[in-house]
Amino acid sequence: MTADSFSDPLIEWYQTHKRDLPWRDTSKPYNIWVSEIMLQQTRVDTVIPYYHRFLEAFPSVFDLAKADQQQVLKLWEGLGYYSRGRNLHHAAQQVVEKYNGDVPSSYKEITSLKGIGPYTASAILSIAYQKKYAVVDGNVVRVVTRYNGITSDIRKSSVKKEVQAFMDDAVPALNPGDFNQAVMELGATVCTPSNPDCGSCP
Ligand code: ADE
Repeated sequence: MTADSFSDPLIEWYQTHKRDLPWRDTSKPYNIWVSEIMLQQTRVDTVIPYYHRFLEAFPSVFDLAKADQQQVLKLWEGLGYYSRGRNLHHAAQQVVEKYNGDVPSSYKEITSLKGIGPYTASAILSIAYQKKYAVVDGNVVRVVTRYNGITSDIRKSSVKKEVQAFMDDAVPALNPGDFNQAVMELGATVCTPSNPDCGSCP
């Protein structure tokens, strides 16, 4: 099984089956960043209205940086994991002070921002900057282990490492962000934890 035989049909499937999500209509790194922070531990359907309200209140990283914390947390109310909101607010100030308001496009710089770990860095860099980084979340682990017939306990760190290595090899130089979102999308809509719709799998 080669990397291309995994990625090509998947990307083609994604072009016609992807859900129309608000952060997929933008190329603004700040907007994509906000979406990826909200999507940590939170479902897509829950995030959508919060994403719209947040960007309406803080259309740019400058607006967020100068907001007061209470206003930020008010908009986060109900989403949970409030440290995400506090960290995002703090990181916006870092971006304004250190990077003149431009979300960094290197792995080293973006992971220096509060609240951005390896997963979120790879998601933002691939989606907003077309950098060749692969993401591995729960959906991706499920899709890749099933594809490769890996039957070990998916909670084992060795399994996650194997999945990361496979994804690093499979991520294409062209549209790596679409590739990453395609794997997540398949896991969310077809390759679901129970009753997967294998007949619809590309
Ligand atoms: N979960 C994390 N990032 C996502 C994205 N960009 N689209 C859909 N679900 C996601």
